[in-house]
Amino acid sequence: MKRRDFLKLSAAAALAGAAAACGAAPAASASSAQASSLTASSASSTASAASSAASASAQAAGSRTLVACYSATGNTAAVAGYIADATGADLFLVQPVDPYTDEELNYNDSGSRVSQEHADPALQTVELEATTPDGWADYDTVFVGYPIWWGQAGWPLNGFVTGNDFAGKRVIPFCTSASSGLGSSAQNLAQLAGSGDWQEGMRFRSSASAEDVAQWLAGLSL
Ligand SMILES: Cc1cc2nc3c(=O)[nH]c(=O)nc-3n(C[C@H](O)[C@H](O)[C@H](O)COP(=O)(O)O)c2cc1C
Repeated sequence: MKRRDFLKLSAAAALAGAAAACGAAPAASASSAQASSLTASSASSTASAASSAASASAQAAGSRTLVACYSATGNTAAVAGYIADATGADLFLVQPVDPYTDEELNYNDSGSRVSQEHADPALQTVELEATTPDGWADYDTVFVGYPIWWGQAGWPLNGFVTGNDFAGKRVIPFCTSASSGLGSSAQNLAQLAGSGDWQEGMRFRSSASAEDVAQWLAGLSL
């Protein structure tokens, strides 16, 4: 099996794992067309057409695009898959070494892991399986995705943002949430990163569809 084929399979497994099992899959960096088809299988012909156009546009421009995201329960990973599928981008899932269990994600429990970490920012440093995607220097556009936690980006993403140099890259943030807007989350990430051309971000509902994503992408000049 060629290395690229292996990477594609790894991405497919990682995305499926993230979508189904709360980010317990290993980190992966790979071409995502195959991976995202697992989550984008319900895409309509409209979404497909927009996807093809976006992908063709990105390829025609000779740009290299990456979709990186942290996703605790799979919603943001699904959106990442739709973006990667539509643009032909590679996919990188930010994975904590110690993934959050459902119990640990219970923000209604003041003793849960997230609640304790939220209460004490000193606890928000999360060790990652991998911080820098393969070929990072070659990407000129990076979509950065995350779930909203207490109005901000889920902090497991922070290590990815601080651990990479975004200089010369166009950065397009996106998030999923139950009801909150993007708020200041993307601006705060841009500040944390300290480099890169961070664009206006986009918030999606937790159960965003491929069509939702395709509509957004159609309005971006990729
Ligand atoms: C710890 C925690 C805090 C959250 N805080 C918010 C919030 O402030 N506003 C909101 O609309 N949703 C909030 N949510 C819901 C998530 O943003 C939403 O379910 C998101 O789609 C999860 O994405 P994921 O599946 O990629 O992890 C929170 C979820 C968790 C686990």
